[in-house]
Amino acid sequence: MARIAVLGGTGYTGEHVVREAASRGHHVTAYSRSAPAEPVAGVQYVQASFLEEGAIAAAVAGQDVVVEALSPRGELAGRLDGLVSDAGRLAAEQGARLVVVGGWSALRIEEGGPRAVEGDVPEQFRPEAEEMVRALEWLERDAPDALDWVYISPAQVYGAFAPGEATGAYRVGGDVALTAEGGPSTLSGPDLALAIVDEIGRPGRTGHINVAS
Ligand SMILES: NC(=O)c1ccc[n+]([C@@H]2O[C@H](COP(=O)([O-])OP(=O)(O)OC[C@H]3O[C@@H](n4cnc5c(N)ncnc54)[C@H](OP(=O)(O)O)[C@@H]3O)[C@@H](O)[C@H]2O)c1
Repeated sequence: MARIAVLGGTGYTGEHVVREAASRGHHVTAYSRSAPAEPVAGVQYVQASFLEEGAIAAAVAGQDVVVEALSPRGELAGRLDGLVSDAGRLAAEQGARLVVVGGWSALRIEEGGPRAVEGDVPEQFRPEAEEMVRALEWLERDAPDALDWVYISPAQVYGAFAPGEATGAYRVGGDVALTAEGGPSTLSGPDLALAIVDEIGRPGRTGHINVAS
C-alpha cells in the first residue's frame, strides 16, 4: 500500500481521490486550508495553506505519491503553476511519483496539432486553462529527469457543476482529447478518482494522458 498525499484533498476532485484511495487501503493524507465537512475514516487531514513557507515540502516529505488536486482559483490563481514545479522538484529528490490533475484545454484536438487552449476557450476559464498548461509545460520541458510524473486531463465536461454518475468505467487516451458521440466528452468525479488511483498502482507511465467516460 502506498503513502499518498492529496493536495486539495477536500475539493471536488481531491475528495473523490481521497475516498477511492482510502477504500483500497492506501495511507492517505489530505491537505487543505479548511477541515472536511465529511471526513473519510482512516484518512489523516492536515490544515495548511500552500502559500505558507515550507508547506509543500512538509506535504511531500515521506510520501510515495503526491496527487496535486488544487485549483488555480482564489488565492492560488497565478501561483499554482509555481507550486506544481516546487512539488515536482521535491518529489524528484525523494523518488515520489507526482500526479497532477490538470485541464481539458491542455489536450490537442488532433495528433501534433495545437492545444485546445489555443482555440475557443470561454473567457471565464481562460486564465485557469492557461495556468494548467504552464504547469504541464514545466513537467514536459523543465522537470528533473528523475521525476516520475503523470498529468491527467479530465473530459471536457467535468467538475462540481456536472457531477455525473459513478459508472465504474472510463477510457484513457494520450495527449489527444478523447471524443464522445453526439457532444462533448464527459466524466464524473468518482470515475476520475478511479482512474487516478488505478494510475497510482501502475507506476512507470510518464506523460500527459486524458480520461473520459
Ligand atoms: N474539464 C476540466 O478541464 C476541469 C474541470 C474542473 C477542474 N479541473 C481541474 O481539476 C483540478 C482540481 O479542480 P477542482 O475543481 O476539483 O478543485 P476545487 O474543488 O476548487 O478544490 C480545491 C482544493 O484546494 C484547496 N485549497 C485551495 N487553496 C488552497 C491553499 N492556498 N492551500 C491549501 N489548499 C488549498 C481547497 O480547500 P480549502 O479551500 O479548504 O483550502 C480544496 O480542497 C484543477 O487543476 C482544475 O483546473 C479541470
